[in-house]
Amino acid sequence: MQWVLSMTYLWLKAGHVVFVIFWMAGLFMLPRFFVYHQEAAPDSPENAVWTDREAKLLRIILWPSLVVVWVLGLALAWTIGAFGQGWFHLKLALVLALTAYHVWLAGYHKALANGERRLTGKRLRLLNEVPGIAAALIVILVILKPF
Ligand code: HEM
Repeated sequence: MQWVLSMTYLWLKAGHVVFVIFWMAGLFMLPRFFVYHQEAAPDSPENAVWTDREAKLLRIILWPSLVVVWVLGLALAWTIGAFGQGWFHLKLALVLALTAYHVWLAGYHKALANGERRLTGKRLRLLNEVPGIAAALIVILVILKPF
């Protein structure tokens, strides 16, 4: 029985990290798509192509990965009893911030599809640093568990 439990835990963690990678890849790609999208003329065929690419990235990669990362992450937290641990509280706060960023990006895609170009390319590139910094902090927290 112990063997089954430890294998389940390891498969949960492997699945969790795999979908974390997919989620992060999508979070890095989408703002890049926005930058190239905004370089296209608003009524051009290229504008429509970028809208379609963004929609596919959200539908096929970003939303499913977000759900799987949360489900497997919470299952892991339950398995190891992480809910009372300080590192997990800060990790969860950072992941909630990343999830809010994800939702904001989905909203930006909708606005862009309606012709609204709210941020400059330079601002969008700068924004792309956000998931990188958050991911680094999250990985340090979960591996070192400093508190
Ligand atoms: C969505 C909410 C999330 C929850 C509830 C969650 C929870 C957890 C838990 C409980 C573990 C197991 C820790 C252990 O076994 O010692 C874990 C492992 C891990 N998580 Fe998450 N996590 C989430 C999101 C993320 C995100 C967004 C990242 C990266 C950006 C991430 C990176 C990792 C890594 C790298 C591990 C493996 C650590 C190890 O091997 O010790 N997690 N996660």
